[in-house]
Amino acid sequence: MNDATRRWLELQRDLGGDEVIFDRPLAQRELEVERAPATVTPSPRKGSRPARTAPAPAPDSVGPTIEKAPDVAWRIVPTGDPAAEWRTGAPPIPGPGLAVTFATPTSGHGTWASLEEVAEVVSGCVRCPLAAGRILTVPGEGNPSAGLFCVGEGPGESEDKSGRPFVGRAGAMLDKILEVIEAPRATVYIGNVVKCRPPRNRAPLPDERDACMPYLHRQIELVRPKVILALGTSAAEALLGVRKPLGELRLKVHRYNGIPLVVTYHPAALLRNPNWKRPAWDDVRIARQLLDAID
Ligand code: URA
Repeated sequence: MNDATRRWLELQRDLGGDEVIFDRPLAQRELEVERAPATVTPSPRKGSRPARTAPAPAPDSVGPTIEKAPDVAWRIVPTGDPAAEWRTGAPPIPGPGLAVTFATPTSGHGTWASLEEVAEVVSGCVRCPLAAGRILTVPGEGNPSAGLFCVGEGPGESEDKSGRPFVGRAGAMLDKILEVIEAPRATVYIGNVVKCRPPRNRAPLPDERDACMPYLHRQIELVRPKVILALGTSAAEALLGVRKPLGELRLKVHRYNGIPLVVTYHPAALLRNPNWKRPAWDDVRIARQLLDAID
């Protein structure tokens, strides 16, 4: 059995598939995913200067408009390996969910010119009380022309110390998933709803979220991904402008400013509750198929 197959089977087992018996134990090296270097967005340093340019954005004065998303007959043209094992048993792309339209930068959130500028503004941001407790801001990082944009909740301890998103245990889980669906970390963009660590890793409060969302809106607008993957309830609610249980938001293709958006469990939730691994595996394969269906 080659290493790639072994890795895939191991992930299958991790995500709740059938038990797999290996002919030899997997070496730690095989389980670890090489972490891609931060590609674009510089990590802000402790005590970095306040924002150089754009003033703090005004909160969007109007909420998003929410409609029903259009129904689309997706035409899947496999990219990557057409015989990739993740495709076996992948669920069909589900029907439409919500179509949510947020204000454009000119009418609401910031007009920063680049991802670097967003990161710089974030590094000096004091728009909410989370700023007081942070070590580093975590603006997000990744491929500036990523097809897939993953959105988490907010930095945890490891991220607060490193200034990089998803570098702790949940990050290792996310890396594994992305690798197996042939969308490795180096190819995607990873952002969060809030850019500073909430105390004791609690979910961001509505005011904190609202203060920070202009940054994420602008990052998505600059990257212009084909697909957004919302990881967990905070991300789903912030991007869809609704409060609903995750179970009601999964298994639908929503639209965020026209971009297909799939909701799944947060990787940290998968570590806590292994029963969610199998449904999450289906969700990410739906997102991956959407990448195959969009030029
Ligand atoms: N959890 C998140 O939601 N985001 C991170 O960056 C890390 C952990």
